[in-house]
Amino acid sequence: MRHNTIYCGDSIELLKSWSAGCVDLVFADPPFNIGYVYDKYHDDRPDEEYVGWSRQWMAACRRVLKADGSFYIAIGAEFVADLRIIGRELGLHLRNWIIWRYTFGQNMRNKFCRAHTHILYFTQDPQRFTFNDRLLRFPSARHTEYQDLRAHPLGRVPDDVWDEFPRVCGTFKERAGFHGCQMPAALLQRIILASSNPGEIVLDPFVGSGTTVVAAKRVGRKYVGVDLSPDYAKHTEERLAGVADESAARPGAGAWPALHEDMLLQLYRETKVALHNLLPNEVALRVIAASLSERTGHGYEVADVRAEFARLAALAPSPMPKLPNDTPFAARHHATTEGKRYDRKVQRYRGRGKPAASGQGELSLRQVV
Ligand SMILES: C[S@@+](CC[C@H](N)C(=O)[O-])C[C@H]1O[C@@H](n2cnc3c(N)ncnc32)[C@H](O)[C@@H]1O
Repeated sequence: MRHNTIYCGDSIELLKSWSAGCVDLVFADPPFNIGYVYDKYHDDRPDEEYVGWSRQWMAACRRVLKADGSFYIAIGAEFVADLRIIGRELGLHLRNWIIWRYTFGQNMRNKFCRAHTHILYFTQDPQRFTFNDRLLRFPSARHTEYQDLRAHPLGRVPDDVWDEFPRVCGTFKERAGFHGCQMPAALLQRIILASSNPGEIVLDPFVGSGTTVVAAKRVGRKYVGVDLSPDYAKHTEERLAGVADESAARPGAGAWPALHEDMLLQLYRETKVALHNLLPNEVALRVIAASLSERTGHGYEVADVRAEFARLAALAPSPMPKLPNDTPFAARHHATTEGKRYDRKVQRYRGRGKPAASGQGELSLRQVV
């Protein structure tokens, strides 16, 4: 197996040819068997066949994982229970069953809208594994609400429900544009920082748009990616070519490295306090500066963080993440222009629409919404 390589082929076959115990971390986001359209893979198999296939690729990943390695699997609700059981049968140790709760999930008509993905976090060994808590911490309510200096100076470790990573929508700058299931790089960065160390090897057996390998390269890990599709593999290579190892980057002449800026914005998302409330809160800023220094390896002070937040907020458009309810109310143009149409829709929905003579009768909820 060559490091820093994207292989095109079937993971199960390819991994069989590698020596056992050669990677430190596996992140796998397989097709969910929900009929999604990929260019080479058919995502609609009989359940038994899909579960059997999952067993094969999970066994292949487990074999190449080091004795102290970690194995994360992102999977939908339909098969998460099967994969958890396969993990147990393979002797993997479940450390967390993480819920990635995202916004911009698909709207549904006749069931609750899908708004989360499961991430199973396994290790080979229940005792020996890497978990870099210092690289994950962020200000807790004890800092943001109570300004309590007795709380941990780096903040708290995230919960197992993650809601600070929006899905990568079509309009996002991050969107690579050639794959429909692109995961957010910040989410992969959390996993890689948590469960690997600089220079270690991260494997993604279903590399897709290349999120895992891009995140690994930026933070100074070696990477290996595999995908069935020659197109996805080629585009991933192109995406990687535009990314540098920024693990040793340091600020120069007033400018922050892009990785540090992304990490600051992620800390802001994690803190979930709007900037106008955060800037006067010295305690929370102190924790952000300390936590950012851990993640980047560069000593940032409160003044640096304050100045960078102010700079980012002043940019147009600003890259500052939107937090729930931090957008000041402004009347939107379409609210006035579309208002009458909307009123008519609501009236029809309430059953006071056009009389039956129009030939339409009353519209049902199904037709209107
Ligand atoms: C859900 S996508 C992964 C998306 C990825 N996490 C990202 O952020 O872009 C699953 C990928 O697995 C690939 N795939 C399916 N079967 C495979 C196999 N046997 N070996 C390698 N790749 C496979 C598909 O082509 C698809 O790109």
